[in-house]
Amino acid sequence: MDIAKKVTVPDVVAMKRDGKRITMMTAYDAAFARLVEAAGIDIILVGDSLGMVVLGYPTTVPVTMDDMVRHAAAVSRGASRPLLIGDMPFGSYQTGPTDALRNAARFLKEAGMDAVKLEGGHETVPLVRALVENGIAVMAHVGLTPQRVAQFGGFKTQAKSARAARRLIDDAIALEDAGAFSIVLESIPAPVASMVTERLSIPTIGIGAGIDCDGQVLVLHDVLGLYGDFKPKFAKRYGEIGTAVVDALRAFDSDVRDGRFPDAEHSFTMKDSELAALRQNATRPKAV
Ligand code: KIV
Repeated sequence: MDIAKKVTVPDVVAMKRDGKRITMMTAYDAAFARLVEAAGIDIILVGDSLGMVVLGYPTTVPVTMDDMVRHAAAVSRGASRPLLIGDMPFGSYQTGPTDALRNAARFLKEAGMDAVKLEGGHETVPLVRALVENGIAVMAHVGLTPQRVAQFGGFKTQAKSARAARRLIDDAIALEDAGAFSIVLESIPAPVASMVTERLSIPTIGIGAGIDCDGQVLVLHDVLGLYGDFKPKFAKRYGEIGTAVVDALRAFDSDVRDGRFPDAEHSFTMKDSELAALRQNATRPKAV
């Protein structure tokens, strides 16, 4: 992928055709979006994982459209080259095509996103069709869809039986037929992801779905070691930034307590003549 050229929806679809692997990473603010862009990643997903890794909720369910739009707008101020995708939060689309359209449009108009993602199988087909017919590019998401974590009884691998896997494959085909330009496969057995990838002409983006997907996505805070000790099996840590942050903050804490900070290098001075005048002024008794 040309590092300087804006990544578009057709580019991502073409990458599958050309046998090029696709990279996608989450980001939630301008500072990290800039770094993700600098790394040459193809797609930034402003995921509703925001709720867990940034806002401190136990699941993604409480995340609102206002939360998502605020963070997505920050991401688009930090990065413009990657394809930018806004994740539709729980309750923003399940209520029907009108709400789905209104909320998806907010991502494009208010937050500078290029496309949206929504979770679900065959039940979301009418919503995907409505969005696509009205000019909004949609990434689908099947398998472990975290907005249904209560129904699943936890963050559990899906499609482990032949019957459930068949259903997931049918859902993925239906979502492609509805016009989705790509699909996330989350936490499913690698052979099932492989079969989906083979059957679809749109790219599959895996997270816990094995090597045969057309692309891979991870949650930024998992990759960088910024999300406590929680570590899903599929989340490879490529850095230990959390440890580096604590080390830096401990050094600040002890420098301040021991009187080493701020030193001369980090303090401002003024001209000696100005200081002398100030001292004279400060010591002269007030006129009555
Ligand atoms: O919200 C998110 O970060 C996601 C990814 C895990 C695909 O949906």
